[in-house]
Amino acid sequence: MTARNLTLDVALAEAEARYAADNPASAARYEDACRSLPGGNTRTVLFYEPFPLSMAKGEGARLRDLDGHEYRDFLGEHTAGLYGHSNPRILDEIRGALASGIVLGAPNRYEVELAELVCARFPAVDRVRFCNSGTEANLMAIGLARAVTGREKVLVFEGAYHGGVLFFKEGESGPVNAPFPFVFGRYNDTEATLAVIERHGSELAAILVEPMMGSGGCIEGDREFLAALREAADRHGVLLLFDEVMTSRLGPGGRQGELGILPDLTTLGKYIGGGMSFGGFGGRADLMERFDPRRPDAIPHAGTFNNNVLTMSAGIVGLRDIFTPDEAVRLNADGDALRERLQQAADERGVPFSATGCGSIIGLHWQAEPIRRPADTATTRPAARALSHLEMIRRGFYFARRGFMSLSLPLEAGDYDGLVDAFADFLDEHREVLSG
Ligand SMILES: Cc1ncc(COP(=O)(O)O)c(C=O)c1O
Repeated sequence: MTARNLTLDVALAEAEARYAADNPASAARYEDACRSLPGGNTRTVLFYEPFPLSMAKGEGARLRDLDGHEYRDFLGEHTAGLYGHSNPRILDEIRGALASGIVLGAPNRYEVELAELVCARFPAVDRVRFCNSGTEANLMAIGLARAVTGREKVLVFEGAYHGGVLFFKEGESGPVNAPFPFVFGRYNDTEATLAVIERHGSELAAILVEPMMGSGGCIEGDREFLAALREAADRHGVLLLFDEVMTSRLGPGGRQGELGILPDLTTLGKYIGGGMSFGGFGGRADLMERFDPRRPDAIPHAGTFNNNVLTMSAGIVGLRDIFTPDEAVRLNADGDALRERLQQAADERGVPFSATGCGSIIGLHWQAEPIRRPADTATTRPAARALSHLEMIRRGFYFARRGFMSLSLPLEAGDYDGLVDAFADFLDEHREVLSG
């Protein structure tokens, strides 16, 4: 062991100093940003110490930062960047749509085709409505569930993330959350969660759950656990709401298609708008029909940009021509193989590490203890996350500070090999401090 690597904190301090020296243009942009944006930031997840890289350009699966470094992009814009950067077919479609006008104040020719593609794709979606973000989709779905059941409460899971106003710590709602009366279940703990459902059953409007927790740490939901939620929801007249904003990419028919468990309502977001801002919520026809404006008791759902032509047109070409069912299978198989290789690299070196997730979404945790719910990731030291992040950036690989990766379609075998080699090199350099 060298003095340089004496402790994790020393290794991290060195990595931060090197990072700052390597990235003067990103540092300067960050300083500028702090004059008008609180903490230089307008999207919390994009901040990390000592300052985030600013990107100048993206092409395919590559990114270039302001200082001219090139990266293989394994973040994939937190799953929204499934198509990679500047996909020519998507760009052509958007240019075509732009040429006919951007905001037309009327139904346009695109929204029906995107709706048909979405309904054909996801088995529990008979009808769909569009909005502008995954957050909004979840708010609308919760609102619908409360309106149709006439009940108030919503069951969510400790550590879950469902959007900017829907994030949850241990039994606690975030300080800027939408003020719904939430009750908390424990992810993958059927017994504890069923007890909560029993207790609140007649007051519960919805169970809101990700079939695989994404931001919560890339934690797969057990089939038995999700099936038990389905059964309990039916028993208590509660609507089961799958947040598939991230997970809809995990199979040709989303995670619901892979599991064969159908929710009453599904929310969508991220890549489905072809890289443009997108949200969608859909589900059983009898529930969604409540939005039919011809009904005397119609529930209103407004949104100036709900059918904006950029999102609609980009989404169509993406789902119809690029992210075909075969490509969904291929990309998720690539992700499973990559996860195994990363795990193997750490195991071979005796470094405590767990690569979690499912298919094309991967979580990196610097601990060997099993991860069944977000609270289980508490043993990963933040310094290990930070060190691995900065050191992989130095080696030309970009992903999120929290150890989150999502694959994009233009990544190639050489990119995966490069990532695994860089990861092994990082482990070799820092094995002692990561194991200590
Ligand atoms: C599972 C899940 N739901 C909802 C959202 C919110 O989507 P948006 O950022 O488009 O509001 C996210 C975003 O990361 C998410 O991961």
